[in-house]
Amino acid sequence: MNRNSVALYEEAKKRMPGGVNSPVRAFKAVNMTPIFMKSAKGDKIKDEDGNEYIDYVCSWGPGILGHAHPKVIENVKSACDNGLTFGAPTKKEIEIANLIYECFPTMEVSRLVSSGTEAVMSAIRVARGYTGRNKIIKFKGCYHGHSDGLLVKAGSAALTTSVPDSAGVPKDYTKHTLVANYNDEDSVKELFESNKDDIAAVIVEPVAANMGVVLPKDGFLEFLRDITKQYGALLIFDEVITGFRLSLGGAQEYFKIKPDLTTLGKIVGGGMPVGAYGGREDIMRYVSPDGPVYQAGTLSGNPIATAAGITTIKMLQEDKDIYKRLEKKTTKIAETVRKAAKGKAVVNQIGSLMSIFCTDKGVVNNYDGALSSDLALYADYFSHMIKNGIYIAPSQFEAMFISDAHSDEDIAKTCRVLEDFWK
Ligand SMILES: Cc1ncc(COP(=O)(O)O)c(C=O)c1O
Repeated sequence: MNRNSVALYEEAKKRMPGGVNSPVRAFKAVNMTPIFMKSAKGDKIKDEDGNEYIDYVCSWGPGILGHAHPKVIENVKSACDNGLTFGAPTKKEIEIANLIYECFPTMEVSRLVSSGTEAVMSAIRVARGYTGRNKIIKFKGCYHGHSDGLLVKAGSAALTTSVPDSAGVPKDYTKHTLVANYNDEDSVKELFESNKDDIAAVIVEPVAANMGVVLPKDGFLEFLRDITKQYGALLIFDEVITGFRLSLGGAQEYFKIKPDLTTLGKIVGGGMPVGAYGGREDIMRYVSPDGPVYQAGTLSGNPIATAAGITTIKMLQEDKDIYKRLEKKTTKIAETVRKAAKGKAVVNQIGSLMSIFCTDKGVVNNYDGALSSDLALYADYFSHMIKNGIYIAPSQFEAMFISDAHSDEDIAKTCRVLEDFWK
């Protein structure tokens, strides 16, 4: 029963676009009414009708420790007692910058912002300011937040003509955004060859997780490192999802590649609005007030948000086995589906990130592969999971996130429900 959610949705639609504050929450892709949530604890989330679900959305990634971890809540509460925001520097900002550097040694100097969108937008501005160049290369199917210049999707036949994805974005704003195919070295080489001295940076999700989870082919990230060096461009890893998730040091530690700049979000804020960008000191010294690239924020480095981030990062640092545990749980789910689906689905998994693609094509390693999914089947699968008390992303093109709070019992229940469907 979801009578209360339905009523709340009707009310919400009157005052908010689509009744939501971020589009994917509206459940449009699965033709259902969004579920209004009331509380969450550990691996469970409860809705306004009192239904409880095992949660694999985990707020789209931040919840690596599960919801409302007592230590995080305690430190947030005690930070609140000291005041919500000062708009002046605090000790906590030094502490989190040091923690970020310990985990991501390539982030010699970093700046805190309040979202992943801001982190990426700012990193690109720095890359342009540092190199004195205009163009950037992004990959089809990779999402880097909703800033104008990054809302670009190019058709497969039009890798060099960048068309804005959203109304309200002037074509002029995206003319410097070139789009290549993920895992396709030739498409990147072509763009470098035809724009030799004007590419400031390549930005990539080192593991793509916004077209569903798509892993980089062997050597693809190394190739990006090499070609950017060769042409004097910067390599930006957007680790908003992979940072602190694939390993403490994110994808760059996992794959042993050193980008010039990195963007973080989600886990770095431990459930509060935090993003960060940073990288090589000589590049980051271009940021105001050290340098000429302007970027600022009223609530940047907010003491409550940094308290949540610091506590989360420290807990990840102190728990030497957490990434092994997360991978083990996720592998169990992935293998269950592979076995049950017998070729009717493709399961991509790395660490505690996974996606089940409703496609019988056998492999998904780029955007076109992801698009081969049967979206009606995904909607059926979603509805089956919800009916059985399991909350997953209401869209084929999102990741499933596993947290340390997911108990063996709940993983086993999830596997049974998945088997039921995929058999
Ligand atoms: C890889 C990546 N970059 C950037 C963003 C934007 O982050 P935010 O939603 O915090 O603005 C997201 C959001 O999902 C993301 O997945």
